[in-house]
Amino acid sequence: MFKTIALSAALAIGLAPAAMAAGAAGHVEDFAFSFEGPFGTFDQNQLQRGLKIYTEVCAACHGMKQVPLRTLSAEDGPGMPEDQVRAYAAENFEVFDPELDDFRPATPTDHFPASGMENAPDLSLMAKARAGFHGPYGLGINQMFKGMGGPEYIASLLTGYTGEEKQEAGAILYENKAFPGGWIGMAPPLYDEAVEFADGHANDIHHMAEDVSAFLMWTAEPKLMARKQAGFVGVLFLTLLSVLLYLTNKRIWAPVKGKKSA
Ligand code: HEC
Repeated sequence: MFKTIALSAALAIGLAPAAMAAGAAGHVEDFAFSFEGPFGTFDQNQLQRGLKIYTEVCAACHGMKQVPLRTLSAEDGPGMPEDQVRAYAAENFEVFDPELDDFRPATPTDHFPASGMENAPDLSLMAKARAGFHGPYGLGINQMFKGMGGPEYIASLLTGYTGEEKQEAGAILYENKAFPGGWIGMAPPLYDEAVEFADGHANDIHHMAEDVSAFLMWTAEPKLMARKQAGFVGVLFLTLLSVLLYLTNKRIWAPVKGKKSA
């Protein structure tokens, strides 16, 4: 009797984590992004590479309709010169102008176009809409140490294809280790050397997945650096205030305390 209880308890404990691992959440790698930690900043060159990958690969299906093209010149973002942004917008995107009743080349005051493919989700805020790290056991403690993991999830998704495909209800699904459920409707978009960089930067699938994920983190949270800086100044100010208050308190009570000890 006791033995069976002990055995089933041991089995339950042993099996539970295995069942959880095989469950909803996919496998997400921990990438070391430049913008992590309290003093992390965006890497401007990386954001520019990410933009190129987005434009040449992802934009065929995905849109970013919440992101104004002019923000590409932001100093704490990709930092492209304004004339380059103008040329980039005109060369790559067309928008429908109701006044002209026709399409015209995009200008910096326009936003990135919306998704061209019906079931491809908009990527503007995707890096904040997904969490890469969960647990342990649904407690979310991992997120305190590793961050929410949105960009890690995207990078893991782009590099997580196993090469297996299956057909389901007329659609082709691709096996992916990072996608919850394991099968995604997006064909593997990246492969080694899919995009060439002018400065000859590494363009294997892992580097590109990291670059485009960093870029999507910037589109989702363009003021990340300003927010961290404001936080740092706040903490510094509060520290200084604490020291001053401590000294003031000491001085105010000095006569009283002095009498007591005398
Ligand atoms: C051929 C079209 C196509 C291309 C190119 C493409 N995607 Fe997708 N993507 C899709 C579709 C369709 C889905 C929805 C898949 C699903 O939900 O099963 C999707 C979904 C996604 C998701 C959401 C996954 C989730 O958790 O719901 C992300 C993130 C993503 N794509 C990123 C990218 C990035 C980054 C690129 C460029 C490197 C890219 N995609 C290129 C078609 C595309």
